[in-house]
Amino acid sequence: MKTAETIQQVREIVKQWHREGLSVGLVPTMGYLHEGHLNLISRARKENDRVVVSIFINPTQFSPNEDLASYPCDWDRDAASCETAGTDLIFHPEPSEMYPEGFVSFVDMDVLTKELCGLSRPVHFRGVCTVVSKLFHIVQPDRAYFGEKDAQQLAVIRRMVQDLNFDIEVVGCPIVREADGLAKSSRNTYLSAEERQAALVLSQSIFAGKRLAQQGETDAEVIRQAMRQIIEVEPLAKIDYVKIVDLSTMQQIDVLDRPFLAAIAVYIGKTRLIDNFMFQPTGGANV
Ligand code: PAF
Repeated sequence: MKTAETIQQVREIVKQWHREGLSVGLVPTMGYLHEGHLNLISRARKENDRVVVSIFINPTQFSPNEDLASYPCDWDRDAASCETAGTDLIFHPEPSEMYPEGFVSFVDMDVLTKELCGLSRPVHFRGVCTVVSKLFHIVQPDRAYFGEKDAQQLAVIRRMVQDLNFDIEVVGCPIVREADGLAKSSRNTYLSAEERQAALVLSQSIFAGKRLAQQGETDAEVIRQAMRQIIEVEPLAKIDYVKIVDLSTMQQIDVLDRPFLAAIAVYIGKTRLIDNFMFQPTGGANV
């Protein structure tokens, strides 16, 4: 496994792979890798000749009041996990490599980004779109892999790829959960033992909502209320949002007659966690 800290190093390595006719899969991450990331890497490993993992805590997607300074990192552990999972190249740039002095160009979009997480994280998706498009230009992958836990991010990136004509296949991979249901997240590490237990209300709420949808409930408010009630009984939990939105527009819907996303963001103590399920009512199959 190779590691690169500069854009030029990555370009030279990837150019050589392309000259050899090899396909390249990219897994963008902010590090502190968990099984969700490893699942993305192993999917990329299966579908590409070469796999690049980027590890970069992207400052532009954090608001000043968020956890940029305390975001967990463990380079040695991440490098070992990447190697075991079959990564060929880790791109691990310094912030100054990605955002040199004088950097002023950002990628943003008017739709999809103002709802859900965009309401409480106003600069988040601009930062994500900017760094992901930079990574796409630097690595020039054939495929890029993202987790469905960040369902809104996935929708935003798909739209960006379509609108800006990136010749890249965006692959969404299912949420990976702990044995007790909690969705894997680097931020779970912030939770105390008591908060870790309390955090189970997120997945319990998601599972309950999904069961109602599977039973044929088409009134979004019924599902939203059932999901809220599960979270509200937990004293350590504070709801940021519980929403059901059209999967393609991220706009709230009341009648569940099309593919939808039920998404929640909940503070457990100071830690903000998200979870979701996607559903296709016609035919009742998951999307
Ligand atoms: O999902 C993440 O970890 C980040 O938002 C991403 C896509 C790596 C961009 O910084």
